[in-house]
Amino acid sequence: MTKKVAESVPDHDVADLSLADEGRDRVQWADRFMPVLAQVRERFAEEKPLEGVRVSACLHVTTETANLMRTLRAGGADVVLCASNPLSTQDDVAAYLVEEAGVHVHAVRGEDNERYYEHIRAALAHRPQVTMDDGADLVGSLHMLAMERFDDLSPGVREWATGLSDDERREIVDGVVGSTEETTTGLVRLRAMDADGVLRFPVIAVNDSHTKHLFDNRYGTGQSTLDGVLRATNMLLAGSTVVVAGYGWCGRGIAQRAEGAGAKVIVTEVDPLRALEATMDGYRVLPMADAAPEGDLFVTSTGDIGVIREEHFRAMKDGAIVANAGHFDVELDLERLREIADEGPRRARENVQEYVVDGKRIAVLGEGRLVNLAAAEGHPASVMDMSFANQALAAEYLLDEGDGLGRSVHRIPESIDQEIARLKLDSMGVEIDTLTERQEEYLASWEMGT
Ligand code: NAI
Repeated sequence: MTKKVAESVPDHDVADLSLADEGRDRVQWADRFMPVLAQVRERFAEEKPLEGVRVSACLHVTTETANLMRTLRAGGADVVLCASNPLSTQDDVAAYLVEEAGVHVHAVRGEDNERYYEHIRAALAHRPQVTMDDGADLVGSLHMLAMERFDDLSPGVREWATGLSDDERREIVDGVVGSTEETTTGLVRLRAMDADGVLRFPVIAVNDSHTKHLFDNRYGTGQSTLDGVLRATNMLLAGSTVVVAGYGWCGRGIAQRAEGAGAKVIVTEVDPLRALEATMDGYRVLPMADAAPEGDLFVTSTGDIGVIREEHFRAMKDGAIVANAGHFDVELDLERLREIADEGPRRARENVQEYVVDGKRIAVLGEGRLVNLAAAEGHPASVMDMSFANQALAAEYLLDEGDGLGRSVHRIPESIDQEIARLKLDSMGVEIDTLTERQEEYLASWEMGT
């Protein structure tokens, strides 16, 4: 990657453009671990499958996302990027993307809700043909706009939306060919829209690709969540009791990594199958009410609301640490915690707010937002390599297939998923066997082998 100053600086709202050099170095470092995406980028640069296509992306503004943005730009796209969480933006990366990659970035770490939605407005005003979401905030706003449900839009978007002429509004909502969605929670929202029959265009469920959730959610969230906890607290995991709420793809990664570091892991679940799996994987499974007095560290990753509530906070022991790795900051009932606290919040360390409840201290990490992004750097680039190869190829696929896909939620074709896995294995120098002719025949027949 050579330093190339964009001909003209794209319009943007970032914290500080002078951070661009630092951003470039870190993006370059991440690029070393993203060989699959690099191959996609090389092909895109030759074939230009996104030539002139307007893309609006609402993703965590990290070094890995920067390499996805470079890939889209190599393919010829005109890209606006806004943040998918107010605390997940890396300001140096945002500066680099504006200065050197020609991306219109609207994202500032720590932005308030109003500015967050002003940035979403910038992504909508770009009149995207393809949108990329991590949590469906962009697509959600687009649909509210299309349905003229202005009151359901956030103030920053509402004012702008009501000022649009009918033609301008139609141009924005009808111009979208399709969208991609990165995460589990976004897909829950999108599937609800699909079931209500309101989805206006096809969505590719990137999270459903095997090369996404099996690795990103499990190993990526598993490692980076503990990374966030450790950076924020410097606590010793060995010998401590870690309560993991939710034994989905993220939860099992967090549990596995915590156990590997010597912690005693307790899992809480609401799904009997998942709870059974956790039990047979060797963890203690308890209701949160019983786990609350035992935990030294609590991590939620359920995609659900109010998982740790007043009665749980009150039951915790002095010094308990609470964090969330699920998409939205609704898993810990912090509103109630603030109400019942005798003292706090008090800043105990960077990314640590301490409360006192019934005379006991409770530390909340990263304001209850995704702890791996708030207190660490998000997922390691090596797993995002596959997630973002899926994103780039999904954008190409949407443009190729267009309306033929139907206004629903789709998976990326199995062949693309398999190809990404194959490229990743190649890059790791791992070889596998291929089926012999006899084996292929055997596996395809019902008459042989009896
Ligand atoms: P999943 O659907 O595989 O697992 C969620 C699990 O939580 C399910 O087993 C469900 O039964 C359980 N659950 C739901 N309500 C519960 C409750 N009240 N108490 C205990 N368990 C409960 O989802 P996945 O992929 O593990 O994602 C979980 C969350 O993490 C989502 O919000 C997702 O968007 C987010 N996510 C965060 C990432 C990060 O970087 N921190 C990366 C990927 C996903």
